[in-house]
Amino acid sequence: TWNTRNIIDDQVAAIRSTVGDAQVLCALSGGVDSAVAAALVHKAIGDQLTCVFVDHGLLRAGEAEQVEKDYVSATGIRLKVVDAEERFLKALAGVSDPEQKRKIIGREFIRVFEQAAREVDAERHIEFLVQGTLYPDVVESGGGTGTANIKSHHNVGGLPDDLKFQLVEPLRTLFKDEVRALGSALGLPDGMVWRHPFPGPGLAIRIIGSVDRERLDVLRVADKIAREELTAAGLDRDVWQFPVVLLADVRSVGVQGDGRTYGHPVVLRPVSSEDAMTADWSRLPFDVIAKISTRITNEVREVNRVVLDVTSKPPGTIEWE
Ligand code: XMP
Repeated sequence: TWNTRNIIDDQVAAIRSTVGDAQVLCALSGGVDSAVAAALVHKAIGDQLTCVFVDHGLLRAGEAEQVEKDYVSATGIRLKVVDAEERFLKALAGVSDPEQKRKIIGREFIRVFEQAAREVDAERHIEFLVQGTLYPDVVESGGGTGTANIKSHHNVGGLPDDLKFQLVEPLRTLFKDEVRALGSALGLPDGMVWRHPFPGPGLAIRIIGSVDRERLDVLRVADKIAREELTAAGLDRDVWQFPVVLLADVRSVGVQGDGRTYGHPVVLRPVSSEDAMTADWSRLPFDVIAKISTRITNEVREVNRVVLDVTSKPPGTIEWE
């Protein structure tokens, strides 16, 4: 639209005048905000931008590839990928406490990003860091006590002094729907533009119990099935988020074919919400739920039971951890 093109032109001009001919760094998370912020900056200053993607191994099926392949080919952005899966899994081994998981992931993320930033900085002196801060983030951090703040979140902050960059925040005045419109106009992959909110610690906080690669793989397949069926039913935009949760320390008895099974339950947690501060469980059509349940128990050997979370927020949070 005219308005979208206007915002793009304004931001491109503003970025150029702020950055001049300096070098700029951006961390991509796989989410829409950092992807659009980086694409805007790239449009403004091209090759002066370098992006870093820390693959912590906790993303959903296909999401790392979406950043590394689809996003790069859509934008032409120079991307440094750090495969840190092993490091994160090692740091998370045996840890089942939710806040402990967040702390470890936040800490490791900073360390890995810091190292990558140092390497890029050594090659081309970096002066600016792009952040995908939106208007609601700006307002929220100005105060207010939301129920969403009861869990510790992590952002790219707390970098050491020799890596103190000036910030470029081209989305600071925008709302999510405007950011999505920009993303589409900039030609970003649909899967990224329309991605539901997804927590920084990723699937680690959707495995109730400790995290390892086998458990992540089980959850990734179950989650992929739920997302596929939601999309097939045309309901992506009716749902705010659709966490799929693996109860990795719970087992229940089932029967498949002529054998007894002793597998894990998976929880479906589709919610509707305006801003994640409060939420209600989505009244998805039962035939969609049924299809997801049948497919998960057929296609994921380790899972023999699928349950639906019918709790609003409050008292439940959206995520299980
Ligand atoms: P809850 O579970 O508190 O989640 O109702 C509210 C919103 O925040 C997301 N969430 C997180 N996002 N780091 C993030 O970046 C986190 O540690 C985290 N925990 C929850 C959640 O997905 C929902 O959108």
